[in-house]
Amino acid sequence: MTSSIRLLSRTMRDLGCALARSSVLALLIFGIALGIVLGTEQTMRPRTRPAAMPNVGAPREPRLAPQQPESPYVGSETCKMCHEDLYAHFARTAHFLTISSPKYMESEKGCEACHGPGREHVESGGDVTKIFAFRGRSVSEQNARCLACHERQEERHNFRQSEHGLSQVACADCHSSHSPVLIEDLLAKRLPELCYECHGEIRQDFTKPFRHRVHEGGMSCTTCHNPHGGFNVAQTRDVLGGTDAICLKCHTDKQGPFVFEHVPVKLEGCAICHVPHGSNNPRLLTRPRVHQLCLECHTATPGILGSEPPAFHDIRQPRFQSCTTCHVKVHGSNVNRLFFQ
Ligand code: HEC
Ligand code: HEC
Ligand code: HEC
Ligand code: HEC
Ligand code: HEC
Ligand code: HEC
Ligand code: HEC
Ligand code: HEC
Ligand code: HEC
Ligand code: HEC
Repeated sequence: MTSSIRLLSRTMRDLGCALARSSVLALLIFGIALGIVLGTEQTMRPRTRPAAMPNVGAPREPRLAPQQPESPYVGSETCKMCHEDLYAHFARTAHFLTISSPKYMESEKGCEACHGPGREHVESGGDVTKIFAFRGRSVSEQNARCLACHERQEERHNFRQSEHGLSQVACADCHSSHSPVLIEDLLAKRLPELCYECHGEIRQDFTKPFRHRVHEGGMSCTTCHNPHGGFNVAQTRDVLGGTDAICLKCHTDKQGPFVFEHVPVKLEGCAICHVPHGSNNPRLLTRPRVHQLCLECHTATPGILGSEPPAFHDIRQPRFQSCTTCHVKVHGSNVNRLFFQ
């Protein structure tokens, strides 16, 4: 059976698509024949062969079981006859697993997993209205195709509620099933260019004098963001720890717990004092000078948490403006209540 398929498909290839397109009838016959052989192979559900069987060295007729209704699926080998280049590329992608693994049902295999059942398209010689082609369909409809399999994965199960999902960004805006620049992850573009297509304003963040090294290849946008969404501010990654968990993955020394915590680090998180991408201010601070930052909270203004510095702090003097030369352990300390060490 297998060898006959090989023979059959080799014959198909020899004949080539040119012939197929010029003679829809011939192709139709080949298509049906191959569909039958494959159908038999995959499902062990033999069907009768049409009378006008061409001379392609088909196998002996297997014993016929009682006939079943014809499946709307024809199998990807049939698509290959007319879409050979797309098939060849497809065979190199991760999606080939849907064919090679027995885990996937007929409706989940190969081309038809995404494009839907293809029998009518094939039998009509390639009528484009008889196949789901993505093009021209609504984004929700397109994404639903992909999510049918991928929504079960933790990384993506919140896609529909994500900023991207709610804003009608399509899987296909970032992934290309047939002509990716990177076969790994089927990316339509390399990072970070992919993101800058829509978030161009972020590019300048990463060209500032103080920055995380995304452009230098030290990390990627997706180190901190899950492009498929999540429950955190700005689709940042770590669910349980909130926005900061992602920062603490690399800056473990800031995590604590400390005997003496600096309240805002724990209560407000890193972003109350730092910008995450890049800044003109040293240490990625939200303010150009350290004391400006500290005095936002450490003032006498009622309603703002943070004690006023003792009177001997003459903050007009440069010596006192550099608060962290004395209060060194500003993220928390295990030895000193005032963070001197
Ligand atoms: C009989 C030859 C033939 C077979 C077999 C075939 N197709 Fe096609 N297909 C065509 C032709 C012809 C077109 C139109 C191409 C064009 O317009 O450039 C087409 C177009 C398409 C399109 C694009 C529709 C559009 O709107 O542009 C998709 C998607 C497609 N085929 C999928 C499949 C899938 C999936 C299979 C297997 C189930 C398959 N085809 C099998 C001939 C075939
Ligand atoms: C993972 C889902 C997926 C699989 C598997 C898949 N396609 Fe597609 N296909 C798409 C999407 C999405 C588009 C829309 C254009 C794009 O994003 O590349 C498309 C577009 C097409 C087109 C029309 C555009 C073009 O490039 O000419 C054809 C024809 C086609 N697919 C045929 C096939 C065939 C044949 C197979 C199997 C070998 C297949 N597809 C497997 C998702 C898929
Ligand atoms: C029939 C189920 C199914 C459908 C439908 C499906 N996929 Fe997949 N996808 C898979 C499987 C299986 C893998 C391989 C996973 C693995 O390697 O563990 C995969 C892998 C991927 C990968 C990772 C590729 C890699 O190199 O690791 C991307 C990206 C992807 N799919 C995107 C899509 C997009 C976009 C669509 C819709 C156009 C789609 N998928 C539709 C089953 C599916
Ligand atoms: C905003 C861009 C974007 C959108 C929209 C998007 N993805 Fe992705 N996806 C990526 C990037 C970037 C990666 C590479 C992995 C990484 O860097 O984290 C990826 C990786 C993947 C992977 C493989 C890696 C893994 O996590 O296992 C799959 C599968 C996948 N995406 C499926 C989908 C599906 C399905 C959709 C639509 C529901 C979708 N993606 C929408 C950008 C996107
Ligand atoms: C096709 C366009 C498109 C692409 C490509 C794209 N995004 Fe988005 N993104 C959007 C839209 C639209 C929104 C929602 C509106 C907004 O906040 O701009 C959004 C929102 C976001 C948000 C949330 C913003 C907030 O205020 O909460 C983040 C974070 C984000 N995108 C990161 C990324 C990353 C990382 C990539 C690359 C992997 C990427 N995006 C690629 C269109 C895109
Ligand atoms: C070091 C971690 C990190 C990296 C790397 C990173 N981001 Fe962010 N990004 C964040 C955090 C945290 C926020 C939320 C800031 C806040 O609290 O509002 C954010 C916010 C955003 C926002 C929404 C708010 C805004 O500034 O407009 C977008 C869009 C965004 N990032 C896109 C990107 C893109 C695109 C890349 C890659 C070029 C990237 N990010 C790289 C951590 C990061
Ligand atoms: C993937 C690891 C990683 C993640 C995640 C990360 N950082 Fe960084 N961060 C670094 C590295 C590496 C540097 C050193 C900068 C350089 O390359 O010069 C740095 C530098 C810094 C600096 C000091 C800059 C300077 O001028 O000395 C601050 C502040 C900072 N990060 C805060 C954050 C915050 C806030 C977050 C979360 C939004 C975060 N980081 C997430 C790796 C990371
Ligand atoms: C109350 C404001 C504040 C908060 C909240 C804060 N930082 Fe800082 N951080 C600073 C200041 C001020 C400096 C500069 C210290 C100096 O001048 O030596 C700094 C410096 C840094 C540096 C570079 C120097 C070093 O000590 O390694 C990193 C990395 C850093 N912070 C990470 C973080 C992370 C991660 C968080 C969240 C867990 C965080 N910061 C929360 C104020 C803060
Ligand atoms: C976002 C607000 C905020 C910022 C910014 C901030 N702090 Fe604090 N700080 C607090 C709060 C709240 C406490 C604890 C309660 C209190 O002091 O009344 C505290 C406690 C302290 C303490 C311990 C004294 C005490 O009374 O417990 C010192 C020392 C301190 N901060 C120094 C600084 C320095 C130096 C900076 C600038 C690098 C800074 N803080 C930035 C809010 C802030
Ligand atoms: C020359 C070293 C030095 C510098 C610079 C400095 N401090 Fe202090 N600070 C101290 C000392 C010493 C104390 C403890 C005084 C005491 O024990 O009563 C203190 C105490 C504090 C307290 C604690 C008040 C309380 O509740 O007990 C705060 C808040 C504080 N400083 C904030 C700041 C801020 C904000 C800056 C920058 C504008 C700053 N300090 C700069 C030495 C310094």
